[in-house]
Amino acid sequence: MLTAAILTVSDTRSAGTREDTTTALMAEILETIEIEIVATRLVPDEQAQIADAIVELCEGASLVLTSGGTGLAPRDVTPEATRAVIDREAPGIAEAMRAQTAQFQKLAWLSRAVAGTRGRTLVINLPGNPKAVRECLDVLTPMLPHALKLASGDDAGGGHASST
Ligand code: MTE
Repeated sequence: MLTAAILTVSDTRSAGTREDTTTALMAEILETIEIEIVATRLVPDEQAQIADAIVELCEGASLVLTSGGTGLAPRDVTPEATRAVIDREAPGIAEAMRAQTAQFQKLAWLSRAVAGTRGRTLVINLPGNPKAVRECLDVLTPMLPHALKLASGDDAGGGHASST
């Protein structure tokens, strides 16, 4: 079974001054494609805490999905924290989220989200707004199972995904 850890990055949600609804939303959507949630974490917009959490969560999951901190505000540092701990970037994943959702929401271009692998784990940033999370996961869910199998080295067929 494919496994995922969810990291929510938000000053207000981690301080408890704003309700965290994105963690449950991400879990609910991932479960629809049979990805088991093995851990959830909530940290403030602090680069070192985000990077440490990603490293720790990568130990036990095939996917680490973050939300929040990808924009242009001074405290938005999730992409920097992610880049510091991934080995290889997978720019197409983040570009697909931006390009496809920008067809109906131009603000999608403001997200600096990145994606890449750390060891055999795929790490993907999403924006923090629940609506954005849903829109971006609509783009990602069709490609996630195959991407995770490739990243884990468990591409049993060794071939390409069927286009049908
Ligand atoms: N992407 C989608 N699909 N839908 C959205 O509503 N909001 C944008 C963008 N990406 C949005 C989106 C906005 S308004 C911002 S500021 C950036 O994501 C960054 O959000 P973050 O700082 O919460 O990560």
